[in-house]
Amino acid sequence: MNNNPIGIYDSGFGGLTVWREVRRALPGESLVYLGDGKNCPYGSRPEEEVRSLADDAVGELVAAGCKLIVVACNTATAAAIDFLRTKYAPLPIVGMEPAVKPACLHTRSGVVGVLATERSLDGELFRRTAARYGSGIEVLTVPGRGFVELVEQDREATPEAEACVREAVEGMLERGADQIVLGCTHYPFLLPVLRRVVEGRGIEIVDPSPAVARRVVQLLDENDLRAESSHAPEYRFCTFADESYRTRLEHKAFL
Ligand code: DGL
Repeated sequence: MNNNPIGIYDSGFGGLTVWREVRRALPGESLVYLGDGKNCPYGSRPEEEVRSLADDAVGELVAAGCKLIVVACNTATAAAIDFLRTKYAPLPIVGMEPAVKPACLHTRSGVVGVLATERSLDGELFRRTAARYGSGIEVLTVPGRGFVELVEQDREATPEAEACVREAVEGMLERGADQIVLGCTHYPFLLPVLRRVVEGRGIEIVDPSPAVARRVVQLLDENDLRAESSHAPEYRFCTFADESYRTRLEHKAFL
């Protein structure tokens, strides 16, 4: 038993989509969310820079006493997960899995689309996963250009967002993709718009965050880290940006 919080980290607002799933799966656990905000977006930064930003963030969460950390950012996972697990061992650290496996298992058309940041698509983690599960399947990767900025500026429900999403998925639709993987934790905020764009085409949208929350549950149990049943959970939000960004994080989490 351990009443310390679970730490959840992202470059900005994106990890809140994972935060929501973790809260749903573990309503008795305290959570500390760290949304960098100051250095967002990470998506086109060099790998070493993302690794060092992720190290700073995880260091903060460790200092806050977190018993388990979720790197709720595909870009930071791709750049830093092995490094972080080695540096902070034996602390359990959960990363984002590019959900290419379920998409490849479920596709009927044999064409799978993946939306992610440039850095994630470029990384070894994605290449390995795609090679492992995507044999005989056409895996189309497209960077979600402008997606992160739209979410960070609370513009995910605008006509501009719809145009941006339409442009990104057009090629996938033309090729007959029937699975679209959300490979960046910011992207589920664009789900209403994406659903509108693909409506009536029988496309399945794959969001890995519920699976990540299930992995957190599993690791807590394996390590006997669950909070006591009498524990009153607390939710804290922090950032490397300013107080107004922190307030926006808190607000968006509970929307
Ligand atoms: N939300 C992050 C991800 O899952 C990073 C987006 C960014 O900062 O570019 O990749």
